[in-house]
Amino acid sequence: MTGCTINLLSDHTGVEVLGADLSRPVDDATRMLLNRAFVDHGVLVVRDQRLTPVQMLDAMALFGEVFAQHNTRFAIPDCPQIHYISNQDTYSDGSRYIPGAGYHTDHSNALEPPKATVLFAVELPERGGDTQFVNLQEAYDGLSAATKRRIDGLRAIQVYQSRFSGRKLIGLSAQNRDRTPASVIHPIVRTHPESGRKGLYINPIRIEGIVGMAQAEALELLDELLAHSIQEKYQYRHQWRIGDLVMWDNRLLLHKANADYDMDQMRYLYRVMLKGDAPY
Ligand code: SIN
Repeated sequence: MTGCTINLLSDHTGVEVLGADLSRPVDDATRMLLNRAFVDHGVLVVRDQRLTPVQMLDAMALFGEVFAQHNTRFAIPDCPQIHYISNQDTYSDGSRYIPGAGYHTDHSNALEPPKATVLFAVELPERGGDTQFVNLQEAYDGLSAATKRRIDGLRAIQVYQSRFSGRKLIGLSAQNRDRTPASVIHPIVRTHPESGRKGLYINPIRIEGIVGMAQAEALELLDELLAHSIQEKYQYRHQWRIGDLVMWDNRLLLHKANADYDMDQMRYLYRVMLKGDAPY
């Protein structure tokens, strides 16, 4: 695919790719370029795509293997490996459910959490509904030497829904519950398997504690690390356009959806995740 242009979207996170068409075969040089840009910049925004769920799934083979999601409720019937994100879903009590409305990293309660999540914008509100990212490698670099020493080697206990989470998730079906481990342990500082860079690995909706640390102390430390990480200087805020395919690296980012728009307007995106490795 010749004529692909890559532009930076911020000093530290995100690039946009112009001139690519992921509905058609992509040559090896372009595949390598896109994968390199993803590892180097954390968020890859491929503009102006026109993809059906099946075409999106086919395009994912450029980047990795599909990770089976926790909750099959959001699967698209004729292409169940692709899920959807919509602002029109509700909790069982009828209140509106906005997926991802709070900083988190995806499925960190899996033994091998997904390396990437990919969304494709099908329908968007006129304004708002941005996705915010924070770069946890930049945040780690910005910690004091004393904090780095303090957190070195600490391991967090991760569950589907932490009892300390401010955000409620949709409950898992019995079948999905059986496939999900009760808890897993992951380091709080992880090394990116492809770039070798160190970054924080925290997740306020899933972490319930730190191994060997009193609960109050652990929660205080996690709050401090989160407050440090979400400072504006570590953020990239993505303003969506129809046809954006956005792939982000869960190994180095937190992300959140913004529910700051007119809920009578539809926000609808296709979603898929890609397999990753055990954090170390
Ligand atoms: C998510 O957390 O996967 C959804 C993010 C978004 O809808 O912007």
